Amino acid sequence: TNRTFTMLKPDAVENGHIGAILEKISASGFRIVAMKLTQMTKADAESFYAVHNERPFFGELVEFMTRGPIVAAILEKENAVDDFRTLIGATNPADAAEGTIRKMFATSMGENAVHGSDSDENAAIEGAFHFSGREMF
Ligand code: GTP
Ligand code: MG
Repeated sequence: TNRTFTMLKPDAVENGHIGAILEKISASGFRIVAMKLTQMTKADAESFYAVHNERPFFGELVEFMTRGPIVAAILEKENAVDDFRTLIGATNPADAAEGTIRKMFATSMGENAVHGSDSDENAAIEGAFHFSGREMF
């Protein structure tokens, strides 16, 4: 069993999709270890997405991720990182498989409803960015 980190992004929250997305996550066998509604500051988003800071869309990404609240969560399941990325689908919803969360709920490449960690190491870093030990169960 291992863990991944997710955010339901501002578009998903604005569009009223929190419940439907959490339902799909639960139905897919993920246990919620930690969860909260929170809003990232500009500094938070720049640090969280530092790996992308040379990319042309970095400014747009930071602007988007800070424009409203997100749901941050740590999820547990066997093979959590890979299985969660399969569940959310491709970065661009136009390329996402039928039935994936991005296919169902994303608006565009930039506003793609949900984040999923890309490695066990990043899952631990990203989870610790948002949660203290006392908030993990
Ligand atoms: P995350 O789970 O959010 O990390 O997505 P990902 O791993 O599928 O994609 P990646 O880490 O490469 O990019 C991080 C985020 O940057 C994406 O989820 C998008 O929100 C955004 N992004 C990536 N490419 C583009 C782009 O070409 N234009 C815009 N506006 N945003 C992009
Ligand atoms: Mg990524």
